[in-house]
Amino acid sequence: MVLKKPLFFLLHLLAARQIADQSAPEWDYRDTNRWIADYPTCGGAQQSPINLDHYNSVGSLKPALKFRNYAQPLAGRLTLVNNGHTADIMLPETIRGPRPTITGGLLNGIYEAQSVHFHWGSPGGGRGSEHTVNGYRYDVEVHIVHKNMIYGNVQEAMQRPDGLAVLAIMINIADFPQSFYPGLNRVFNTLPRVRAAETNATINSQLSLNHFLGDVDTRNFFAYRGSLTTPPCSEAVTWHVFPRPLLVSRDLVIIHPHNHICILFIFDADCKLLRAPTEKRRVSME
Ligand SMILES: *[C@@H]1O[C@H](CO)[C@@H](O)[C@H](O)[C@H]1NC(C)=O
Ligand SMILES: [Zn+2]
Repeated sequence: MVLKKPLFFLLHLLAARQIADQSAPEWDYRDTNRWIADYPTCGGAQQSPINLDHYNSVGSLKPALKFRNYAQPLAGRLTLVNNGHTADIMLPETIRGPRPTITGGLLNGIYEAQSVHFHWGSPGGGRGSEHTVNGYRYDVEVHIVHKNMIYGNVQEAMQRPDGLAVLAIMINIADFPQSFYPGLNRVFNTLPRVRAAETNATINSQLSLNHFLGDVDTRNFFAYRGSLTTPPCSEAVTWHVFPRPLLVSRDLVIIHPHNHICILFIFDADCKLLRAPTEKRRVSME
């Protein structure tokens, strides 16, 4: 199906930096078709996100995903950084030393968690998830990015087809959710402190990666081989997308003075959005 591309807006990027950094051209969400000019991989055959379709999916028995050290508290306080494109959290090691890891599913090998970031919607532009399921778009999509342990760092892993593994957790806003997610709550409460691009804020709570999974049903997932959803669009990502959303309270919604409702994201003074979903092209499901 064809998804209507929502309106989108952008926080001001630092123009000076764009000009200074010739090696990696700046990009934004205003014209995603331009990405291909600067980053040819964005026109590749295995691009994400895609619509995940129960009917076109090949049902195959995959091993369950296995989570290690996801319950271990992460060492130190997490910093939420508005990098001009999203709210990003670089993950430290756990207090016991090793990083949280995943294995199983479509993965061959061990993948260690590196960072978490968020994709969200806008008042005028609709819901914000990147992947859709049977054409349905969720309010928020959380990405936990992992790197294959055989590669030294994320930059190197991005060059390899088996380099990265991303878990996608969907969130919907509900009036009376049955569950409360204290970790996600802390993160969302911190978002207003990083409204401006290039700012950061500390999350004042000790979190583990399980806080970002909530009680999502990890046995139920779509898996496929795709790409980073933003430039450089590297086709290095094995995706596991959990279609059953976590429901979070409207209390987490930020009411803007202009009476717009800004849902779980970073906005400028006019409640305009940093981030909007994009749909590039479909690939077949694994
Ligand atoms: C957070 O902001 C401060 C002050 O601008 C800066 O010195 C620091 O490097 C930033 N930290 C991160 C993780 O971006
Ligand atoms: Zn993402």
